[in-house]
Amino acid sequence: MSDSKKPGLRSQDWFGGRGPKGFVHRAWVRSRGVPGDHFDGRPVIGICNTWSELTPCNSHFRDLAQYVREGVLEAGGVPMEFPVTSPGETLTRPTAMLLRNLTSMDVEETLRANPIDGVVLLMGCDKTTPALLMGAASVDLPTIGLNSGPMLNGSWRGKPFGIKDAWKLGDDVREGRATIGDVEDAESCLNRSHGVCNVMGTASTMASIVEAMGLSLPDNATIPAVDARRKVMARMVGRRIVDMVREDLTMTKIVTREAIENAVRVNAAVGGSTNAVIHLTAVARRLEVPLDIDDWDVQSRNIPNLLNIQPSGDYLMQDFHEAGGLPVIIRDLCESGLLHGDALTCTGKTLAENNAEARCFNPEVIFSVAQPFKPNTGIAVLKGNLAASGAVIKPSAASPHLLTHTGPALVFENQEDFEARVDDPSLKVTAASVLVLKNSGPKGFPGMPEVGIMRVPAKLLREGVSDIVRVSDARMSGTSFGTVVLHVSPESAVGGVLAVVQDGDLVELDVAARRLELKVPAEEIEQRLAEWARPAPHSPRGWVKLYTDTVNQAHDGADLDFLVGKSGSEPPANQH
Ligand code: FES
Ligand code: MG
Repeated sequence: MSDSKKPGLRSQDWFGGRGPKGFVHRAWVRSRGVPGDHFDGRPVIGICNTWSELTPCNSHFRDLAQYVREGVLEAGGVPMEFPVTSPGETLTRPTAMLLRNLTSMDVEETLRANPIDGVVLLMGCDKTTPALLMGAASVDLPTIGLNSGPMLNGSWRGKPFGIKDAWKLGDDVREGRATIGDVEDAESCLNRSHGVCNVMGTASTMASIVEAMGLSLPDNATIPAVDARRKVMARMVGRRIVDMVREDLTMTKIVTREAIENAVRVNAAVGGSTNAVIHLTAVARRLEVPLDIDDWDVQSRNIPNLLNIQPSGDYLMQDFHEAGGLPVIIRDLCESGLLHGDALTCTGKTLAENNAEARCFNPEVIFSVAQPFKPNTGIAVLKGNLAASGAVIKPSAASPHLLTHTGPALVFENQEDFEARVDDPSLKVTAASVLVLKNSGPKGFPGMPEVGIMRVPAKLLREGVSDIVRVSDARMSGTSFGTVVLHVSPESAVGGVLAVVQDGDLVELDVAARRLELKVPAEEIEQRLAEWARPAPHSPRGWVKLYTDTVNQAHDGADLDFLVGKSGSEPPANQH
């Protein structure tokens, strides 16, 4: 008997053959206790799991995956759970971002190489979400997301305690207002459960984007990780993906230009992380949906900030959920004509339909378009001779008095230089200085770590200065705040103008005019660039070499150049 392809789902290319190859495919899957009727043409659902003890934010996914499996079985599908590389934000050095694209390749190649008809993406900690979205996008199967959900609210000494409070505690220790004993005491009070950081950091930003794009069920972004409702959601996700396969509801049918615009706007409304710019751009490029850096500014310009949550505000993710969650914001934006409410979602209904019943239970946490938390925020895209291809700033996290500022540069060549000198009492820094950090972009510091935050020099903190303008080609944590210009592109390591900024040069930041300028004559800049030497490569081999040789600039999503686009889900030839 031959193994000629049986019509139907792609998994039948493996399991439907009546000859020796089909026998092998079925026999080895049966070895784990699967009955024969599972090969009769049912949708095979991949459960792409980023569970890892190295990624504490995703450490409950072994448990949640069981609920997904149950849902898949209930709907008549066949679950096939598999692990992928899991870049955890807190432990991975130098930065989990270095592994984002690697994980995306793992996801893409595993999906395409295997008998999978649809996939559930279990993602949460910052980089796991974009990595899985990127990989899945390049295959374009029916795809649904289930995020880890946020940790419970932190609580310390009778008060809410979020990561923003933890950063502040660090400053207090440096300034003698708190002790190391206080820090140790606070450590076990910040993260009281599984789940992602409990503020609107990159993880919850990306989860909100998943929900806004219609790639998850409503409430995916905010149900706390350990809440029973997330288990129910996991089960419903398992059920739904089976029907999505039957409906051939692929990722490209959901994540259209309209869905991406919705994501950009919801990001503005929740005061989302600047990292979203890089991640969503990379996802869009995989799907071949146009999205460039200027879209972030244009699309979010009239979107008010509706959410009083750290780091831009006061509350935590659990409060957001209890106040009604992201559906309240989506409904309000839809009804105000600020979203494409007719965008198709994974439920088979539109975004507006999914969220039509949402209600706000705490207007101190979730504000409204009629009465916003902060007007006109989102992400501002800056251009100028210092950032010809763009740079970003999150005005809602910045100090209003610094949004228009010209000051002398205080330059750090790299992160080591910064660490060595920033707290030196003799550092020539004033409140008017502009801290400039070089060599921290995608190629300059592979993975583009979140060093753009550049803590305020101790000397200034002692003078009572808590914010200062900072400019770099690095990223910053979604949990950070300050007047911080990030993602300067082109980066210094490829010879962007940032590479030749010198101490004392005037740097002009004008957020209202969307301008970032080095106030040095063009001829002088040309002369300096002519004398500039490219830094030595970071590694002669391995992943770091492949990464630095091929990574795109931040404004292009910092994907590897050869991964942009998609190759589809056609099963590879069977060479067993
Ligand atoms: Fe994992 Fe913040 S460290 S989400
Ligand atoms: Mg982070």
